[in-house]
Amino acid sequence: MVKMRRLGKTDIELTPIGLGCMQFAGTANITRLIIRPIDQEPATAVVRAALDGGVNWFDTAEMYGGGRSEEVLATALKACGVRPGQVSVATKWTPTGRTAASITRTIGDRLRHLGGFPVDLHQIHMPTGSLSSIPAQLKAMAGLLKAGRIRSVGVSNFAARQLELAHRVLASEGVTLAANQVHISLLHRNVERDGVLETARRLGVTLIAYSPLEGGLLTGRFHDDPALARTAPVMRRFFGRKELSAAGLARTRPLIDELRAIGQAYGVSVSQVALNWLITRYGDTVVAIPGASKPGQAAAAAGAMGLRLTDAEVGKLDALSLR
Ligand SMILES: NC(=O)c1ccc[n+]([C@@H]2O[C@H](COP(=O)([O-])OP(=O)(O)OC[C@H]3O[C@@H](n4cnc5c(N)ncnc54)[C@H](OP(=O)(O)O)[C@@H]3O)[C@@H](O)[C@H]2O)c1
Repeated sequence: MVKMRRLGKTDIELTPIGLGCMQFAGTANITRLIIRPIDQEPATAVVRAALDGGVNWFDTAEMYGGGRSEEVLATALKACGVRPGQVSVATKWTPTGRTAASITRTIGDRLRHLGGFPVDLHQIHMPTGSLSSIPAQLKAMAGLLKAGRIRSVGVSNFAARQLELAHRVLASEGVTLAANQVHISLLHRNVERDGVLETARRLGVTLIAYSPLEGGLLTGRFHDDPALARTAPVMRRFFGRKELSAAGLARTRPLIDELRAIGQAYGVSVSQVALNWLITRYGDTVVAIPGASKPGQAAAAAGAMGLRLTDAEVGKLDALSLR
């Protein structure tokens, strides 16, 4: 049995690994530039594999197709026989060019797209872009919570100082800040240096690690076949050009080799060791939301929860990931 993790100081219990659902945003959405979009049928198969592997929560967003990802997720959950309340769903409000009033105005859309599944966690997608202040946005979120329309409040991409501010504003409303969703992986450990990890621990806020596999780099597939990099979505190719170059792959190869060696000893894959490092290294503070475009990927991600890396293995990966 996988030990659950508490979402912030709420009574919501999450498995250490959830499923990221950006790939359900559809082919017309901007996210197609960073991820391979999949249709309803494969999405249902991916959700089924995650559920079969024990995953009990899903992360989506308004920005992922303006409701499409939420709808595809809800349809998939229903097709798998899941009823509202049996899993947790996290979604996000898009701040770009909008005032805080739109948080209140659009919650009906979120709930409609989710087709009966409640919003267990509602997140402000990013700290920038809104026409209203961060305090005004959080007060609107607190209002939704008090009105019983969402179960908890989170933020995403917030720096340490913004996290403190969000916590303070919500506390003044008698509400706790449950989570900050940020980029964390073996190759992206900024939270250890920029104060986000320390602040989250002190405030009792869960960190939700996004892009935990670096879009597949931490599966070893580009190291095994560098030509695959040419088939990656355009933004991944552009922003990841350093990591995906011959020199970049050579730099991270010792890490991949070690992930593979540890994985072989346990009979698991490179990606499973990388994900287990993430949910072990930071204790209960971090949970992860790998994406998956195939059922096997979702099954592998869920399977990463069944592994128990030793302190020595975690330390070895720590050292290699910083080279
Ligand atoms: N809050 C934010 O600003 C933010 C930003 C980014 C992401 N997110 C969230 O984080 C979630 C995950 O992030 P992500 O999709 O960017 O990154 P990721 O989890 O690092 O990468 C997922 C991709 O890696 C590949 N992959 C996964 N398992 C694999 C396996 N076992 N073997 C080979 N390849 C495998 C797949 O790519 P292929 O489809 O190419 O095979 C998959 O789509 C998103 O769905 C979203 O919920 C949030």
